[in-house]
Amino acid sequence: MLIQVITGTTREGRFSESVARWVMEHLATRADLDAELVDLRDHPLPFFDGPPPARAPREYPTGEVARLGRTLDRADGFLVLTAEYNHGYPAVLKNAMDWTFAEWQRKPITFAGWGNVGGARAIEQLRQVAVEFELAPLRHAVHILPETMMAVRRDPDGTAAFAALEPRLTLLADELVWWAGALAAARG
Ligand SMILES: Cc1cc2nc3c(=O)[nH]c(=O)nc-3n(C[C@H](O)[C@H](O)[C@H](O)COP(=O)(O)O)c2cc1C
Repeated sequence: MLIQVITGTTREGRFSESVARWVMEHLATRADLDAELVDLRDHPLPFFDGPPPARAPREYPTGEVARLGRTLDRADGFLVLTAEYNHGYPAVLKNAMDWTFAEWQRKPITFAGWGNVGGARAIEQLRQVAVEFELAPLRHAVHILPETMMAVRRDPDGTAAFAALEPRLTLLADELVWWAGALAAARG
């Protein structure tokens, strides 16, 4: 099972980088999945201004969009790392999603979020968006609260401060692998 970990923020000094490091280290210890980091910084895209990708699947208008689309196509499931910006999810993430459509369909998606309420508001909104993409949003998510964020920022290596969240990430990865396997078999 190929699980893609998508960093949903791109700004200078972003917290998502610490979360990505922790999640990728954790997933690397599992034998039941392969993890690939998809950093939206590596996929600079203009603001979406094309025809609806749902109506023209995989008809990519530019090389950059094609590169993102072909990357997402490889995945069996997604773990999106999301901040909460003004009680919503980051625009850079939605922009990337809007350039694609079929690449997400009939695959599971789950989230790790951070912020004052552990990114819960952003994650709930993303679950609604996921349904329109015919993704299967999972019940479990990882919520990183401000105390953990502060501890991570104090810790130069970063990952030890996430220790209390390890069981949650394990549960989430277990569920993601189950759904990824079930839906990959169903997609054929
Ligand atoms: C534009 C902006 C809006 C923000 N709005 C919220 C918010 O609504 N809720 C929240 O919990 N944190 C909010 N924050 C604080 C973020 O949780 C914090 O900056 C976090 O590090 C953002 O993730 P990033 O560093 O990966 O971009 C906001 C930050 C920015 C830059």
